[in-house]
Amino acid sequence: MIYTPKQFAFGTLQGISQKQLDVHIKLYEGYVKFINVIEEQQKELLKDSEKNAYALAEVTRRIGFEWNGMRMHEHYFAQWEGAASPIAGPLADALAAQYGSIEAWHARFKGVAMMRGIGWAILSWDPVGKQFVNHFVADHELGQLNGLTTVLALDMWEHAFMVDYVPAEKAQYVDAFFANLNGSVVAQRFTAA
Ligand SMILES: [Fe+2]
Repeated sequence: MIYTPKQFAFGTLQGISQKQLDVHIKLYEGYVKFINVIEEQQKELLKDSEKNAYALAEVTRRIGFEWNGMRMHEHYFAQWEGAASPIAGPLADALAAQYGSIEAWHARFKGVAMMRGIGWAILSWDPVGKQFVNHFVADHELGQLNGLTTVLALDMWEHAFMVDYVPAEKAQYVDAFFANLNGSVVAQRFTAA
């Protein structure tokens, strides 16, 4: 087994129950498990790649879903580790410079999160264009932007909030996500990029 599930040291979360976290962590562990399964199956199928061509292609096709499911959840849960704090420092300055104010960025990002469909609202940094991109990733992989750094990742699958909120309360979940956000975790990703 190459990848093992990460452990997260959550602070005291507001508006996100322990049951919601437990259910969600279990799903995350499934993605890690299946990335390992894919790797093992590929090794097995490659022993006779001609005979196994169809199965090999299908297994290979699943990497994007499982891989991003693994990595995006790691981004997501890490944002709730430690004490909640606002986004500050160079990241806050850069967001304000691009969007007019941090509040204007937040409103735009929340708009992305509230889009219909299951997936992720992502704030990415493009090192080439030297700008942020707010984008929506359907499932875990459709709409990922190559070469960008994930700065903030918000899970908008229903499994992320349905223990605590009904779909009509999605905005409350988004608010809870931000209320618990450790801004320094997010700021460090931007600084590293
Ligand atoms: Fe999730």
